[in-house]
Amino acid sequence: MLPTPASFVQRGGHYTRLHSGSGPAVMQWRSYLFSRSRATNLAVGIGALVCALSLLLNLQLWIASGSASSGDFGVGTRISGAGSAADFAYSPMSILSTLNGRLRGLDHLIVVAGHAIWHGCSPNERMDEDDWVLEPIQREQELLGTFFKHISKGVELTLADPKSLLVFSGGQTRPTSLETEGSSYNRLAHSAHLFGAQYNNSAPFPRATSEQFALDSFQNVLFSIARFHEVTGSYPSRITIVSFGAKKQRFSELHAAALRFPSGRFTYVGIDPGNASVERTMFDGERQFGYAPYKEDLYGCHSGLLAKRRKRNPFFRFHSYYTSAPELAGLLDYCPGASDGGQSAVYKGSLPWDSRKL
Ligand SMILES: *[C@@H]1O[C@H](CO)[C@@H](O)[C@H](O)[C@H]1NC(C)=O
Ligand SMILES: *[C@@H]1O[C@H](CO)[C@@H](O)[C@H](O)[C@H]1NC(C)=O
Repeated sequence: MLPTPASFVQRGGHYTRLHSGSGPAVMQWRSYLFSRSRATNLAVGIGALVCALSLLLNLQLWIASGSASSGDFGVGTRISGAGSAADFAYSPMSILSTLNGRLRGLDHLIVVAGHAIWHGCSPNERMDEDDWVLEPIQREQELLGTFFKHISKGVELTLADPKSLLVFSGGQTRPTSLETEGSSYNRLAHSAHLFGAQYNNSAPFPRATSEQFALDSFQNVLFSIARFHEVTGSYPSRITIVSFGAKKQRFSELHAAALRFPSGRFTYVGIDPGNASVERTMFDGERQFGYAPYKEDLYGCHSGLLAKRRKRNPFFRFHSYYTSAPELAGLLDYCPGASDGGQSAVYKGSLPWDSRKL
């Protein structure tokens, strides 16, 4: 056994007394710290060995995290112009280490914006209103066929472009359903074998996924870009949106501008119900409750539009995109007010698609 240093024998246990806060104890502790003691060569040797091992381990961890982050993710990356959001802008290894490769080489994001939740089982009964969670207005307008046309169009465009990723976007927006819009659309597409006979819900098509947090049309686009980054490790250079023709102006003029996404690389495919009276109602409603408020509040983060988002988040969901798409953190957190030049002031921070050549 090693000979115990003299100071340990005499002054052990002072740490607890120090915490009791008495003055003399502090002085005793100090004199203990600065008193001379003996250590054997073995003790010094063990100390040095532990130190060297710790140094090596740290170095190895540092190198490992460096190689995992080289490429699309930056561990601890600070985003210029991101303001307070920069504090969130890092990609934790605990998540990155669970990714077993990604779908590399895709550059085209195709978004089908969700409008309802399908909770049916059989695709043949997709025109049955009881298989959908709908807003009362959607029930009146008989939109089920149009939802399915959006899904089919998204699949058709995706099959035609091998470098595309299809994202069905929409969160768990209804208090009366446990499903998300996005995953229910994806499930309907697979149930109906839209990707081909060999693809179904137990053998899903690899270039189709869901985005499960968006609470409105602006978030359909922004969050789908972030979702694209989760799946592919890069940002899309082209975006195609499939939704109602009535919403084309809102997406192309307002949302794309708010994201500063190059208009030449932004395509909108509008599909409407094909019933003149329904379409008239839709266009009127869109102008009044969609386009107009978004023109005033470009990022949808103030009063009326914020209230809509709040109403559509009955299950208190937090999205993952601050960590999975750290380059977008500043944009995700952006909500302009009077001091920025008004609620429609465009975001000025850097964005991944800034440097792209058209
Ligand atoms: C159009 O929709 C309205 C309202 O849902 C309905 O009453 C009318 O029959 C529809 N017209 C056609 C041609 O389907
Ligand atoms: C789904 O597709 C796979 C592969 O094509 C097939 O083996 C499987 O039987 C299908 N499952 C169902 C439930 O149809």
